[in-house]
Amino acid sequence: MSIIDKPGTFNLGDRTVKRLGYGAMQLAGPGIFGPPKDRNAALAVLREALASGVNHIDTSDFYGPHVTNKLIREALAPYPDDLVIVTKVGARRGAEGSWLPAFTPEELTQAVHDNLRNLGLDALEVVNLRVMFGVERAVEGPIEAQVAALAELQRRGLVRHIGLSNATPTQIAEGRRICEIVCVQNHYNLAHRDDDALIDDLARDRIAYTPYFPLGGFTPLQSSTLTAVAARLGATPMQVALAWLLHRAPNILLIPGTSSLAHLRENLAAAELALPADARKELDGVAKFGAA
Ligand SMILES: NC(=O)c1ccc[n+]([C@@H]2O[C@H](COP(=O)([O-])OP(=O)(O)OC[C@H]3O[C@@H](n4cnc5c(N)ncnc54)[C@H](OP(=O)(O)O)[C@@H]3O)[C@@H](O)[C@H]2O)c1
Repeated sequence: MSIIDKPGTFNLGDRTVKRLGYGAMQLAGPGIFGPPKDRNAALAVLREALASGVNHIDTSDFYGPHVTNKLIREALAPYPDDLVIVTKVGARRGAEGSWLPAFTPEELTQAVHDNLRNLGLDALEVVNLRVMFGVERAVEGPIEAQVAALAELQRRGLVRHIGLSNATPTQIAEGRRICEIVCVQNHYNLAHRDDDALIDDLARDRIAYTPYFPLGGFTPLQSSTLTAVAARLGATPMQVALAWLLHRAPNILLIPGTSSLAHLRENLAAAELALPADARKELDGVAKFGAA
């Protein structure tokens, strides 16, 4: 038994992961660019996540770039059998840290090889295609050639499962006509709920939904309702925000990001937090009435 068993598990293809995982993006340097401020602290966060029962880690080779994957390998290899590392391809970093598309089939193939090398793996368990028609939000555009390129890498045994990130419902349907899509990773949290209908549709089809920025990302969630509910429950606002997501739908998998051991412990403890129905109802109103 670990402290994160309570919310249960969900499947990513033929793999089963606990619903509370860890997002490794924050381990790179400021602006997710360059090496971490404190390398030993970054390694310690990864090791403690696993020791606490985490078996789902989200990463990408464009964090750093290459920094986060190398830290994961150094901290955790040889990897335990139950660990599922989910990575993403589709972007690259400019010289000053900008986020640029690397979205041609050739660039995607190169990115899969980079991830394999830097993580020290023979096959990637899940690869999300990060759709790059928009950097900040999902924007329509065809993804057939990109998904077909990943499906070809899957046939060659380099990729086991395929997911989509920053994707619209139309793009998800397009992807599903080409291959099995096991997860969708989009921007979603208590205050940002554009994907409400999509989450329910994916739940019906038993496809995982992994919200990125579950705590608000670069602008952490701030809401007087969240603060009041947390005070009433004797929890922190971030724990309540995570517990709300766990209650929101059974297919939601959490990957809160942190570079801090204290925040990691706080976030994982959200697994034990019970959210009474009246608290959930109040929190449901945060998106409607704004997060101020
Ligand atoms: N597909 C995509 O396009 C995409 C985009 C963004 C992120 N992601 C993935 O999603 C994961 C999660 O997103 P994220 O890390 O950007 O955002 P997040 O989980 O919403 O929030 C992370 C931020 O909150 C802080 N934080 C974490 N726990 C806290 C706590 N208990 N109390 C107060 N502050 C806390 C972190 O700072 P400290 O380090 O100081 O704790 C960091 O600044 C990433 O790690 C990445 O794997 C994917």
